[in-house]
Amino acid sequence: MSSSTSASSRVLNSSLASRIMSADEAAALIGFGTRIGMSGFTGSGYAKAVPLALARRISDANLRGQKAQVSIFTGASTGPELDGALAMAGGIQLRLPYQSDPETRKRINAGEMDYMDIHLGHVAQYVEYGFLGKMDWALIEVTAILEDGRLVPSSSVGNNRTWIDQAEKVILEVNARQPAELEGMHDIYYGLQPPPNRQPIPLVHTGHRIGSPYLHVAPEKVAAVVLTDSPDRNSSFKAPDITSRLIAGHLLDFLGWEVQKGRIPASLLPLQSGVGNIANAVLFGLLEANFENLTSYTEVIQDGMIALLRSGKLTCASATAFSLSPEVMEKVNAEMGTYRESIVLRPQEISNHPEIIRRLGVIGMNGMIEADIYGNVNSTHVMGSRIQNGIGGSGDFARNGYLAIFMAPSTAQLGAITTIVPMVSHVDHTEHDVDVIVTEQGLADLRGLSPRQRSKVIIERCAHPDYRSLLRDYQSRAERLSFGKHTPHLLHESLSWHERYVRSGRMRPSES
Ligand code: COA
Repeated sequence: MSSSTSASSRVLNSSLASRIMSADEAAALIGFGTRIGMSGFTGSGYAKAVPLALARRISDANLRGQKAQVSIFTGASTGPELDGALAMAGGIQLRLPYQSDPETRKRINAGEMDYMDIHLGHVAQYVEYGFLGKMDWALIEVTAILEDGRLVPSSSVGNNRTWIDQAEKVILEVNARQPAELEGMHDIYYGLQPPPNRQPIPLVHTGHRIGSPYLHVAPEKVAAVVLTDSPDRNSSFKAPDITSRLIAGHLLDFLGWEVQKGRIPASLLPLQSGVGNIANAVLFGLLEANFENLTSYTEVIQDGMIALLRSGKLTCASATAFSLSPEVMEKVNAEMGTYRESIVLRPQEISNHPEIIRRLGVIGMNGMIEADIYGNVNSTHVMGSRIQNGIGGSGDFARNGYLAIFMAPSTAQLGAITTIVPMVSHVDHTEHDVDVIVTEQGLADLRGLSPRQRSKVIIERCAHPDYRSLLRDYQSRAERLSFGKHTPHLLHESLSWHERYVRSGRMRPSES
């Protein structure tokens, strides 16, 4: 298969070729009220044509007064043709396990759409045990269909193995825009058995291949094949600003200390890097740092990781998806074949598997909304009630890695609120799962510290100077007046910090 073939020439199985139809015809097969597992992990490898056609159908039905909706399960966030279009049509009843689309977020926060925010590593098991009901459809973007019916996965794997295995019927989108050279880059593990027969997963280093480069589908399940030719859509990263460069600097100094103390090798341990500009800035910081032969065991391959691979500093990256800015994606797509040895794309139940994350000793580096003075972290909710994105894989890596690092600027909303607070307004990562907190002010290493010791270190190292004395005052009064003195709190006051900012009117309105 050459790199620039048309979509139809990528359907080499004659039986499946006979099921080629338009996106509208395929969307018409999907009943309202059904559960659909769709491909997509960030703006990569998501189904692009059928969701748009389905959104049109739903809009028409709703105009006729019908309540037309479906439940949408994916790998993680997707692109505007999927989340954006279906949310805009009012077509999503239940969404899981992660989103970052503005329209979807708006509807979830308006209470118009149900959303289940699940650890990304847990989704496959949830579905396989039937906690989420019967899967009606799998709608999966692939790069090609081979003669024998095996599927060359696309630029993300996510939960595709699970959706294909669990759904009653499958629709395949064959996207000619995905480079043919993706063939051979994936590693789809088919060896997970349910307990009590589960065996160890034989993956012992980041680049290890333990499965098949292909997804398998029972041909009789395939109801439609749709040909597409559309690019993935991820947003561009902001050039690292002073705040993210300072955060990256503190973090890299800390990793240098860990090496000097002999706790980790000079090549560090496999790195996991979360979503967003700060995470990307840390990766770019590693380009200048003195570490060599790095590896990565993570969810997404971002721009910074490609730069590290190209520089030779990173030798291998394992993930479940690409998540590249349009500029970098174009370059990577043109030379995809050169990454086949150094990048492995896996199902997300393997990229995020606790057994492997613990075995490899992954260093997890993720963004946060806020942390409290005892080290509890909120990654998902603004003011405790408005979901931003979701927990994603941050919990999979924080609980199981060698180091759980969380980072954010020390203030948000143009300085109107501190991100270091007495008590987080929502907890995603408890004090037991958080090792290090970093802001542009500094880094707090919480390992080995009691709650009261942690509070002092977090306030002095991480809080913004404008808020430090307020936090010190809270902490010292809590130490005197708290009901218990282990984790001192003044309960009537701790969350009023958030209320005060809502009432002050200084909070910018939500996205609505
Ligand atoms: N109080 C109030 N608002 C806050 C806030 C706080 N403490 N912290 C952030 N915000 C607001 C920002 O002002 C911004 O608002 P806007 O959308 O109105 O502009 C919004 O929340 C997003 O903040 P921003 O700093 O731009 O976010 P980011 O791109 O750096 O991402 C997270 C930070 C926490 C949202 C992101 O890392 C995330 O979703 N994490 C959870 C998932 C995860 O970790 N995935 C990786 C594992 S693989």
